[in-house]
Amino acid sequence: MQTHEIRQRYLDHFVKAGHTEVPSASLLLDDPNLLFVNAGMVPFVPFFLGQQTPPYTRATSVQKCVRTLDIENVGVTTRHNTFFQMAGNFSFGDYFKREAITFAWSLLTNSIEDGGYGFDPERLWVTVYLDDDEARDLWREIADIPEERIQRRGMEDNYWSMGIPGPCGPCSEIYYDRGPDYGIEGGPEADEDRYLEIWNLVFMQNERGEGLGKGDFEILGPLPKQNIDTGMGVERVAFLLQDVDNVYETDLVRPVITKAEELTGRKYGVESAADIRFRVIADHARTAAMLIVDGVNPGNDGRGYVLRRLLRRIVRSAKLLGAEQLTMGEFMAVVRDTMAPSYPALSTDFTRVLNVAVGEETAFLKTLSSGEKLFESAADEVRESGKTVIGGSQAFALHDTYGFPIDLTLEMASEAGLQVDEAGFRELMGEQRQRAKADAQSRKHAHADLTVYRELLDGGATEFTGFAELTTEAKVLAIIKDGVRVPAASAGEDVEVILDRSPLYAESGGQLADTGMLTGKDLTVTVRDVQKIAKQLWVHKVTVDAGVLAEGADVLAQVDRAHRSGSTQGHSGTHLVHAALRQVLGPNAVQAGSLNKPGYLRFDFHWQGGLSEAVRQEVEDVSNAAVAADYQVNTMVTDIDKAKSMGALALFGENYGDEVRVVEIGGPFSMELCGGTHVSHSSQIGPVTVLGEASVGSGVRRIEAFVGLDSMRHLAKERALLAGVSSLLKVPSEEAPGRVENLIERLKVAEREVEKAKVAAVLASAGSIADSAQHVGDLLVVAVAAPAGVGGGDLRTLASDVRGRLGQHGQDDVVVALFGDVDGAVPFVVATSAGAREKGIKAGDLVKSFASAIGGRGGGKPDLAQGSGTDASGIPAAIDALLRQLAGSGKLS
Ligand code: ALA
Repeated sequence: MQTHEIRQRYLDHFVKAGHTEVPSASLLLDDPNLLFVNAGMVPFVPFFLGQQTPPYTRATSVQKCVRTLDIENVGVTTRHNTFFQMAGNFSFGDYFKREAITFAWSLLTNSIEDGGYGFDPERLWVTVYLDDDEARDLWREIADIPEERIQRRGMEDNYWSMGIPGPCGPCSEIYYDRGPDYGIEGGPEADEDRYLEIWNLVFMQNERGEGLGKGDFEILGPLPKQNIDTGMGVERVAFLLQDVDNVYETDLVRPVITKAEELTGRKYGVESAADIRFRVIADHARTAAMLIVDGVNPGNDGRGYVLRRLLRRIVRSAKLLGAEQLTMGEFMAVVRDTMAPSYPALSTDFTRVLNVAVGEETAFLKTLSSGEKLFESAADEVRESGKTVIGGSQAFALHDTYGFPIDLTLEMASEAGLQVDEAGFRELMGEQRQRAKADAQSRKHAHADLTVYRELLDGGATEFTGFAELTTEAKVLAIIKDGVRVPAASAGEDVEVILDRSPLYAESGGQLADTGMLTGKDLTVTVRDVQKIAKQLWVHKVTVDAGVLAEGADVLAQVDRAHRSGSTQGHSGTHLVHAALRQVLGPNAVQAGSLNKPGYLRFDFHWQGGLSEAVRQEVEDVSNAAVAADYQVNTMVTDIDKAKSMGALALFGENYGDEVRVVEIGGPFSMELCGGTHVSHSSQIGPVTVLGEASVGSGVRRIEAFVGLDSMRHLAKERALLAGVSSLLKVPSEEAPGRVENLIERLKVAEREVEKAKVAAVLASAGSIADSAQHVGDLLVVAVAAPAGVGGGDLRTLASDVRGRLGQHGQDDVVVALFGDVDGAVPFVVATSAGAREKGIKAGDLVKSFASAIGGRGGGKPDLAQGSGTDASGIPAAIDALLRQLAGSGKLS
């Protein structure tokens, strides 16, 4: 049975039983504690907690989920995918254990013809929470499961929560016995590979508090109602019903492996190390594509870092399997072909998926090749020192700087006949992990501080009045100092203030916060910043200037008008530049982020390669044409589907059913979902001046611009600069560029002349240096200090020139050694003629005889060696040592 059909049967079964079908939510939910949606119930949390009234009491969904706790283990075990689909049915205070068990049992064991999955009831086992006799009895009664196939398990296994504070409860899990080929007898307690968990029924009835792990948290108390949350692993059911060996071989995952076989020429199922790489590619390609579709971009922390790791592991695995070309695009195309029937955005947004994924691949391949160079030089160093082991610190540097995974280093080392100090590497990795953990803990601590807002959040959201007015009467609901509620704050204190209503814009959607004042009788307070907590609570960061600010007081909250008007110019300007970019570059120039404040904006977008000057100019022209057109700016509130069908551009993270605000400038010219403040006519934005455009990461460009008066100030500054340059050049400003070009050209010519003269001067000294040659045995030897200031390439040229001159005259075998003295360094060169080399004299060896005299090192080939010392006073001693070496070398006839 195909995966798409398994999903459909699930939904049909529960819709028939009175459930409302709810589409999958985005993988990204606005909860700083939760990296990705990791269970089907996550979007319903407010319903379970009683914070919101659900529009239905029974729901069913197939939710996309990502769990990335253990990326290293992907493909090593075959039970887990980082991306999976959880089919679930939910009851919000409606049915409880009896119905949940009945529904699940009938879907699993009903025949295929009857709409079920047709599992053999004899092979199903269940577990219940330790003392949950009720569930045990229901399983006996409804499913007639014999006592010996019902196992009792504790907190760790049979008490479910999201791993963070929220709803929780005892659960009952259903397992399928795959038979003796897969492990020992004894039920899930004995072997979870043979007995595979396919469905978890959670009897959601309590709320958990802070705490770590699965077993160690406090139960805060019962939820307002008894609920049901279940999760069936679609991929697991698929591989059982498709009679394949594991989740990597189902109809939706295996095609990526097949593509990888094609691209690498290797076969899956032959060698276990290679199989792990195939599975990594198959798993990660799917997860990466789904994350990109939902709006994640590769980055260095949080969600972005997870995506980056996934993509890099694909690149690395493909390379280790022997791929020599780019592969990412092909993998993404297979994911699209298999997954788009359930997730159409994979198809409609495919160009973006491709740009992001291939951009990361290209960038990482470059890193890989710099890493390879570093590896080569580390390997050379090891060989030169006569050792065979690459140090742990070098392996770590490769990992840390170039993202070089240790197995790649190991493999390259073994190809080079070397080993790696893996223990040393692991020690350094451990230390780094320790640092990361400490960092995470300190962040968690910062997060724990948010509990101070909890009670306030329960009181409801701050009412934002700032679209309609800039001054609002408000009540002080709370004052927080250093994370603790305080009753009052007096002059000089920095505190946070929560009001019941506020006209001040809180930072969001790229727009920085308003500044302003709170005033009251004998009270003045400066508002420096405003931040939102949980999208709901406006936290004003303030300094009390005069008087006492007390909880419960009535104040007048005022927005700084000039600041706000600058902000609206900046934000509306951002929309214009966005629209202009899309008009000029096309719809693939997708927004990646933005920031705006009074007078200034920056806009990041996905694009490969830089923009030409002409394109930048066009973006600026299109933006300014929109300013000149004096478009009316309209805003409206609607639901997400309607907004999208109108053609509004949305960033990501909005969910089905969400109310959204649409900001429209000039009708089709610009229409975006946006909660920011805007001008009412586009002419109020003032001139838009694009400052420049640059790369800010792989495949992401940033454009910056000034608007309004800041544009004018910027242009005035540029004008003054040009005037200064013109007056220095003594030409009118329009002639300045030509004059500068001309000067640069002349400078280049002059530099070339100087260079030529220098070489000529150096070579002119070659004759007199050659004259200083002396016989040492049957060798003609020059060993002298070079003219002052000659070093580097010039010293080499001089040495070969002298060697050439001496060689021309007679049959003598020649050795030339020259010592420079340049800025405290003592560069030296030794050159030998062919005849000298035939006598066994090697330049590289000669260097060793004298280098220590000048405090230096060096080496090279038999014909030419060079190096550098640090002590010019040692030059005579070095010459002496060289001559003695030559004299004593047994080459005297
Ligand atoms: N929420 C439950 C789980 O994820 C069903 O296992």
